[in-house]
Amino acid sequence: MTTERSPYYVTTPIYYVNDRPHIGHCYTTLVADVAARLARLIGRDVFFLTGTDEHAEKVSKTAAERGHTPLEWADINAARFKQAFEQMNFSNDDFVRTTEERHKAKAAEYIQRLIDSGDIELGDYSGWYDPSQEEYLTENVAKEANFLSPVTGKPLEQRTEQNYFFRLDKYEDWLKDQIESDTVRVLPKARKNEVMGRIKQGLQKVPVSRKIKEGDADWGIAMPGDPEHRIYVWIEALCNYLTTMDTPDRRQWWPKDRPLAVHLMAKDILWFHAVIWPCMLHALGEQSPKTVYAHAYFISEGRKMSKSLGNFIEIDLLEAYAERYSLDAVRWFLATQGPMGANDADFAYSRFVEVFNSDLANGIGNATSRVGNMIAKYFGGSVPDPKGTDTLVDGEYDWPLIIKATVDQALEYFDDLALDQAAKLGIDLASKVDGYINVTEPFRLAKKLDEDPGNTDKLAAILYHCAEALRVATLLLSPAMPEKMAELWRTWSCEILTDPADANSGFVAPLAELAAWGGPHALKPGQQVTKGAVLFMRADGKEPAPESAATAS
Ligand code: MSP
Repeated sequence: MTTERSPYYVTTPIYYVNDRPHIGHCYTTLVADVAARLARLIGRDVFFLTGTDEHAEKVSKTAAERGHTPLEWADINAARFKQAFEQMNFSNDDFVRTTEERHKAKAAEYIQRLIDSGDIELGDYSGWYDPSQEEYLTENVAKEANFLSPVTGKPLEQRTEQNYFFRLDKYEDWLKDQIESDTVRVLPKARKNEVMGRIKQGLQKVPVSRKIKEGDADWGIAMPGDPEHRIYVWIEALCNYLTTMDTPDRRQWWPKDRPLAVHLMAKDILWFHAVIWPCMLHALGEQSPKTVYAHAYFISEGRKMSKSLGNFIEIDLLEAYAERYSLDAVRWFLATQGPMGANDADFAYSRFVEVFNSDLANGIGNATSRVGNMIAKYFGGSVPDPKGTDTLVDGEYDWPLIIKATVDQALEYFDDLALDQAAKLGIDLASKVDGYINVTEPFRLAKKLDEDPGNTDKLAAILYHCAEALRVATLLLSPAMPEKMAELWRTWSCEILTDPADANSGFVAPLAELAAWGGPHALKPGQQVTKGAVLFMRADGKEPAPESAATAS
């Protein structure tokens, strides 16, 4: 069966390069990676973009403090982001840096188009500016926050400047309609309500430039036709989602005829993505994003992570966890226990141990080794033939039905970006297999093969069903844990990846086909199931510590 692979474009925010990456950046990028991998598994033609936002004033400021030019400092940190993302095994198709010519030229071109169409105009502006976030806040938002930055708590500044403005106000009705009708889906639901509430207070023009002052570093993209101004970094940064795709060979991921892009981020920057960016695109005659998903924050021991508290979870701590428990275990923990949805999530070792043991060591790890061991012991390591034997227990455990329902559910979760839930379906399936083993007791049956000639068929059918259900479970777990699941597919001789030696290669068929009960990719009687190494050993002991406590800064 060949299916047309429809495009799927998923993005992360592009991250500031004033400092090195931390868990928050890795988290959003992991969520995007899981979405991208699940989309590939489902059979979509995926493009996954991440990158760095380099023209911020805070980048040039920090660079000066460290004795670097802005670009040198950006180079250093962009390399750290790239390296961290490689270590996390992210499967991004591109990594854009806003200092690259391909971005700069197109971003300036879009701004010129908006000037030409009258959507950007020159004027005076005064308002509350948050220097730590490089953004103006509306009077209402500033007041509600007691004139302190809602993100860092630092004082806001009253600033007046001559600026170019984007006429966001023109698009208020259009945007309300887009969001209300879910043409631009703002997820989760609570965030949509928040954004709608704010839009209803009225949209104002937004500044899209910043005048360079005496002593400022020559940093940023010049405003077309007015080099005294730089394009405001936020406006320029948003453009990355399109500049990177605005080439003939990539345009299918940003089509002219329908919204397609999925933008992921945390709640701090939802306004830019759900309000300013769709309106800019509309003014440019482009499609809006299809989905804007804002998750909550990873916090550390109940407190927001911040520079001043010095409580960031650093990448080298994640590395130490990965060293002891495997990278996929870290990915699993972040992907399923992270702040998807509206609530912040705490990062705590005790919780890591709990989840590792229940989901991985005692969950999928135990189920696969238990079933693998029984197949080795009773059938010499080759998958037994179920011969159509009925395996229902009190009308329960209709495996073909269970599998179909689980896969359908996964597709629904994928649509809603409930990726943590989609992943957990694999663990639920493994625990169902456990429950099934407990009631059917194949180990007891194995002792009674002589008593009744039908017992061998029954044992074969039970173990076949267990193994096949687990194979589907591993498919659903693979977006979060690609390496561990590929390891299992190798030991179970499953042909799932186009290159079995490479966990990041493509899938030989889309999920619906791969998971079909009795389908071409189902386990075949006689197929070898070797024991393989234990996927996840039980976790205990003290929290892993980074090799050197001091991290380079
Ligand atoms: N450069 C802008 C984004 C421009 S996108 C056109 C920016 N950069 S940032 O480096 O500050 O990254 C912010 C993003 O990092 C958040 O939206 C989120 O994706 C991620 N996170 C940063 N801290 C986080 C947590 N504590 N928890 C979860 N995600 C966090 O804003």
